[in-house]
Amino acid sequence: MGCETKTWLILSLLLLGASYMQQCVYGAPQVPCLFVFGDSLSDSGNNNDLVTTAKVNYKPYGIDFPTGPTGRFTNGLTSIDIIGQLLGLDFIPPFASLAGWDILKGVNYASGSAGIRYETGKKTGDNVGLGTQLRRHEMIIAQIAIKLGGVAQASQYLNKCLYYVNIGSNDFIDNYFLPKLYATSRRYNLEQYAGVLIDELSKSIQKLHDNGARKMVLVGVGPIGCTPNALAKNGVCVKEKNAAALIFSSKLKSLVDQLNIQFKDSKFVFRNSSADIFDSSKGFKVLNKACCQSSLNVFCTLNRTPCQNRKEYKFWDGFHPTQAANQIGAINSYNSSNPKIIYPMNIQQLVKA
Ligand SMILES: *[C@@H]1O[C@H](CO)[C@@H](O)[C@H](O)[C@H]1NC(C)=O
Ligand SMILES: *[C@@H]1O[C@H](CO)[C@@H](O)[C@H](O)[C@H]1NC(C)=O
Repeated sequence: MGCETKTWLILSLLLLGASYMQQCVYGAPQVPCLFVFGDSLSDSGNNNDLVTTAKVNYKPYGIDFPTGPTGRFTNGLTSIDIIGQLLGLDFIPPFASLAGWDILKGVNYASGSAGIRYETGKKTGDNVGLGTQLRRHEMIIAQIAIKLGGVAQASQYLNKCLYYVNIGSNDFIDNYFLPKLYATSRRYNLEQYAGVLIDELSKSIQKLHDNGARKMVLVGVGPIGCTPNALAKNGVCVKEKNAAALIFSSKLKSLVDQLNIQFKDSKFVFRNSSADIFDSSKGFKVLNKACCQSSLNVFCTLNRTPCQNRKEYKFWDGFHPTQAANQIGAINSYNSSNPKIIYPMNIQQLVKA
């Protein structure tokens, strides 16, 4: 064998090894695309240019994120960032700043303070409610159809993506439980209101299905009565708020059962955020206080140094979990076999299905 051939052989073996290792470390994407709908639990920067107090593209937010503050409502990664990583995906950028991004990999439409209902959160300023998030998705689909050479091709492609919908908390926190600002609590009791929300959400899910979605994760509302914000005002967890979350989530779980029967070509999964984040208290030393300082137990104060031991805190600010808490929830929803946490299958199984 000549020297040149040997060098070539060694080089190509090295390259092969390197690309193999990369696959091992980062994992080949298990799904080609991810579309995210929701509120501040998933927002990756959609509110940054809106006129609202519900935006956090400033320090100390993002203190543990590779590029600092981005508009994520936590110290580091959100739950869907981590699920994306586990699936081998890049961080999905917000619809509001897609420059240079390949939309075939997905888009994040989630907006802090947004709800299923249009008026939700609007008293604190502008946000992008679920209805507008869906219209934005239709705009993106039109662009994908142009890229792929037709509506049929786009539809076939969109069938393979993962769709993640985590919304509803603000319809309670920033609507129903603010009776001075919103009339919903006078029009409906909790049971009726949760029903109205689920009906509305169900219509949105069907619209997503019409637009090609076949693999969907629907996330319930966590115990909003036990956030540092609720605890600061009430001393103990607010029972009525936790009851609201349970009613909403159990209706959402039933909706998932119904959708799985109705749409045989699709798989719907219910993620119980009560079980996966908030029951995972064991590893955390501080459960009732936020890691960062804030004046009204809402958003962190600009440039105030947060707690050092962020892995020991469940909550980052008055409402939002730390990256450490998100990590536990995300991993659980990714590969847990406990149907109380993720039902009727986990996300790893969903993307393979
Ligand atoms: C979610 O998990 C919590 C805590 O384990 C449990 O009490 C609740 O019943 C679960 N909700 C649903 C809809 O499965
Ligand atoms: C779930 O995934 C995490 C992260 O990849 C991994 O550390 C853990 O071992 C997995 N658990 C199971 C039961 O597969």
